[in-house]
This record gives sequence, C-alpha cells and structure tokens, in this order.
Amino acid sequence: MARLVIVSNRVALPGERTQRAGGLAVALADALVPGSLWFGWSGQRAEATARTANILSANGITYATIDLGEADYRRYYAGFANGALWPLLHFRLGLMRFRAEEYEGYRSVNRAFAAALAPLLGPDDLIWVHDYQLLSLPAELRAQGVNNRIGFFLHIPFTPPVITEVLPRAAELLAGLAAADVVGFQTVRDRDAFAACAEALLEARRLDTDTLALGEHRLRAVAVPIGIDATGFTQEAARAARRVEARRLTESLQGRALVIGVDRLDDSKGLPQRFAAFARLLERHPVHRRKVSLLQVAARSREDVERYQALRRELDRLAGDTNGQYAEFDWAPLRYITRPLSRRTLAGFFRLARVGLVTPLRDGMNLVAKEYVAAQNPADPGVLVLSRFAGAACELSEALLVNPFDTDEQTEAIHAALEMDIEERRARHHALRERVFTNTAALWCQRFLAALAARPAVRIECRARPV
Ligand code: G6P
Repeated sequence: MARLVIVSNRVALPGERTQRAGGLAVALADALVPGSLWFGWSGQRAEATARTANILSANGITYATIDLGEADYRRYYAGFANGALWPLLHFRLGLMRFRAEEYEGYRSVNRAFAAALAPLLGPDDLIWVHDYQLLSLPAELRAQGVNNRIGFFLHIPFTPPVITEVLPRAAELLAGLAAADVVGFQTVRDRDAFAACAEALLEARRLDTDTLALGEHRLRAVAVPIGIDATGFTQEAARAARRVEARRLTESLQGRALVIGVDRLDDSKGLPQRFAAFARLLERHPVHRRKVSLLQVAARSREDVERYQALRRELDRLAGDTNGQYAEFDWAPLRYITRPLSRRTLAGFFRLARVGLVTPLRDGMNLVAKEYVAAQNPADPGVLVLSRFAGAACELSEALLVNPFDTDEQTEAIHAALEMDIEERRARHHALRERVFTNTAALWCQRFLAALAARPAVRIECRARPV
C-alpha cells in the first residue's frame, strides 16, 4: 500500500501539551496509520529557514519539521498567509493587505518546504497538502521533480472570480495549486468558486462537475466536507460533564441557562456581532436578565498580526460595555475568556449549554458546530444557532440558521433557542446528530484519499495567464 505523506503548516508533534494542529490533528487521526509521514513547520523561529528537516518517530509515524527564519516567518505567516490570503478567502477584501515582498516570502517558504520534503519521498508516496498556507506547494514539488500524486485540501472558503482576481498574482498562485492532481473543498459552493476561478484566470475548461482541463493536465476538484470523530467526542462530552470543571461551571450558574461560544479570536468568527446580538437580547427580552449567561471562549490567536490585536481590544471593550450595563452584583451576563481551554473541558461545557452559538461571518466548515451537536444529551439537547455562511450550514440545516450581519435576526434566534420546547429540541437534534455521525472525520479521509488514489497520474505543467 502507498505511504501517506501529510503536509501542513502546523504539525501536532507527539507529546506536545498544546495540540497546535487542533482540529486537523483530530481529523487526520484515522489517516495517520503507522508508516505515515507528517511534514510541516516545527513552530520554531530561527535565524534562517532550515534546508533539511528534523526527523522524529513515534508510534510508527514519522514527523519531519523545519524551523523558519524570522524574516521568512513574518513574510509568509504573519504577512501573506494571514494578512492577505486569510481575509481575502473569507470575503473580507477591506481587510486584505497585499505586499509584494510578503508574497515573495510566502513563495520562498513554500519552496523551502518542497526542497526539504522532496528528499524524504519515495516513488509511490501519496502526498496530501493542507490549507491556504501552502497553495504554491504542489507546483514547488513538481519543480523539485516530484512526480507523485499530490492532493490538496483547502480547509477555509474559496472566493468567486470577482473577489479572487483582486489579489495581485492570483493567477500565478492558482496555477501553483493547479499542479496538484486533486483539490478538495469543504462545500460545493467553494468547489464551484474554485472551478470558476480556474476558468477565468487559468483558461481551464470544466469537463464535468469534478474535472478541469488545463492543457493536457486533468485536475479533479471535489467537494468533501470534513467531519469529526463523533462517537469519540460524544463519549468525551459525557465523561467530561461529570468532571470537576463542568461541576464548577454548573455550580456557578446557579440554575441559569448557559449559552456558549468557542472560537479562535479571529475576525472571521463574527464575535463583535455576536456580542451585540447578546446585548440586544438582554435589552429586548428582559425575561432573560439574571436567567442566562453567555460563556465566550475566544482563544488568542496570531497575536503578531496587527488586525488580531485590534480585534482583541474591540472585544474587551464590548464585553466590558455589556457587563457594565447589565450585570448585577451577583450575576454577570457575559463571561469572556481569551485563554484556550482543553478540548475535554470544552466537550463537557458543550453538553451543559442550552444554546451553542456558531456565528462566523464566513467559515470553511466550523467543527465547533459539529462538536456541539455531538456533545448533547439526546434526551435533553441544547439548540445550535448557526451562521448560514459557515460550511457546516450546508449539512446542519436543522440548526437555527442566521445571517450574523443581521443583529436582530441573531438576537431572535438566541431567544427562540432559549424558549424552544423539548419536543422541537429533540427533533432538531435527532436530525443534526444523524448528519454528524454519518459524515465523520474518518469518512472525510476515506473519500479524499479514494479520489486521490483513483486519479490517473498523467500531468503536464500548466502556465498562468497574466492578469
Ligand atoms: C484555521 C486554519 C488552519 C490553522 C488554524 C489555526 O483552522 O484553517 O490552517 O492552522 O486556523 O491557526 P494558526 O494560524 O494558529 O495555525
């Protein structure tokens, strides 16, 4: 059987206390069988980017990582990946900041990844690259003479041509990605947006739903939504709800309903809009005053990117405003934590929460939505309020779907969720649970890898048309 080689910016090294690769590590657990290789950034910044990888083996899996030079890290990670690509692909053109030298830094880190990975590859390895940090890697690997099958999965959304073309060098970047054999997206909408961009910017021809022709090269573009280990998470939540953290939370609530939000502190997550909707709930529906608490965990993230610092200041202010206005000496409406909490603790908190708020302005999938569903007690489940613009909304249509930009709609959805009777809660949860348990992380891996393995290995270099 072919060896699987996973490539991602973050790698969850064995024994690391904080799982830096988060959901990705969990989703890949089934694919990472003994014999596999996981390649990526070590998480360390050094004077210069390493040319060769550090190798570590544990439980039959090989981990190969490289350190990034400080300047490369800044241009690649804080610069182009999170300063330009992230906002662009989340439809936030106004936040995008393009700097040519950062783009060059991104390209050079992708090249460094390819150069350090190429010598580790065998001829039959299947290579699976992950996410927007590594869009150029397929072409860089080809440039290193790598002829293996290359699959790429984008965890975040993809934008239609009218947005994508605003990014300088978009065609070049897309051409780098198109050197893969299979590119995977979270939803049909993202897959179609990519196909439309390939047609508009690369002169690709769409042969059928899943196939693009770029000269002689046939590129498969597939929609394969990511899932979670639903059984594992359900069990974890049931156990965690009996642990000390969950008991302390229950005691502190004194019978009040818990509304929960768990996100990275990121401007795609709609946190200011969520805080505003919650404040309006207290204003418009005073019945919830003293009866409800929102626990918002917004784990600090990408702190060396300026936008993220500004967002944190804004949220501090909004949280202070809401508590200042509505808190009583024995009740705080909003509990706001910017430290990360462990997955286990969160699983238990999800189970206790009457309402789960997952209201990003735009999101590739959002696994918190699926985790919240899996964590519920089917006999007395909570209600998921979910943004229409999260990939998860394509599957989880029995959630209360909202437009997060519409504060009133979000407010009324939280109100409806808090008031919903048990029959409706059970009926909605039953349908959602079915979906979360069917489309699991294991199935996601199987479906993507089946598409990659089925792909005939015929390819010819494709060139970008300058825009
Ligand atoms: C999102 C991205 C991942 C990224 C993660 C954490 O989920 O899709 O690629 O790893 O955020 O962000 P960070 O910048 O800390 O890696």
